[in-house]
Amino acid sequence: MSLFITFEGPEGSGKSTQIGLLATALGEAQRVLVTREPGGTRIGNAIRSLVLDPAHTEMSPRAETLLFNAARAQIVDEIIRPALARGEIVLCDRYADSTLAYQGFGHGQPLGPLRQLAAYATAELTPDLTIFLDIDVVAGLARKRAGAVEEWNRMEEKALAFHENVRRGYLTLAEQSSRWLVIDATLPAATIHQQIMAQVHQRINQGADDEAGNGHYQQ
Ligand SMILES: Nc1ncnc2c1ncn2[C@@H]1O[C@H](COP(=O)(O)OP(=O)(O)OP(=O)(O)O)[C@@H](O)[C@H]1O
Ligand SMILES: [Mg+2]
Repeated sequence: MSLFITFEGPEGSGKSTQIGLLATALGEAQRVLVTREPGGTRIGNAIRSLVLDPAHTEMSPRAETLLFNAARAQIVDEIIRPALARGEIVLCDRYADSTLAYQGFGHGQPLGPLRQLAAYATAELTPDLTIFLDIDVVAGLARKRAGAVEEWNRMEEKALAFHENVRRGYLTLAEQSSRWLVIDATLPAATIHQQIMAQVHQRINQGADDEAGNGHYQQ
């Protein structure tokens, strides 16, 4: 059964860690595809270097928004939709909600046009489950600095107030829809993994029930 799960959260919140744990746990029984935004495709990776390059300090927030969405359109068409059509579980590190949080709440761009743009870029492909790893901004950045840094990019260079707005934005988005699971990212990684597994199993069982006709519409 296909399932589309996205991971969101501030820098250093543990997205890569949890995606790795979940992919390993689910991979025993099912085909799992792991990908990330921006990137995941040749075109997406070219956009990733352009948009995250710390040297590009002059980038306009609108140009930034459009580049993220261009990479998103490519990954949806080239990777995510085909994998879901094959019945795989797709785990994506960041997705359209990152644009609402970073370019919307972070840069203060109007949410209405951003939502329309995201709908266009994804051709309305919405995740089944979005896991938000919530952590205090300073703690997340400190964790990232202390760890083996995968990449230090233009987003991390932004002021603390920007990151605080991003976190507040995520929490606002999470309140608006039941597809979100908000997790305290300061808990031990193994505990977080258990919480995520419980929720994923629930969604898988729910999907199986729906497919068998025993779902929400049962009398
Ligand atoms: N639950 C946790 N408790 C303590 N440390 C953690 C936890 N999860 C991850 N870490 C550590 O915090 C650092 C950041 O984790 P990770 O790279 O998974 O975060 P991320 O959200 O993917 O970050 P990025 O924004 O760089 O993509 C790593 O050094 C990782 O080992
Ligand atoms: Mg990561």
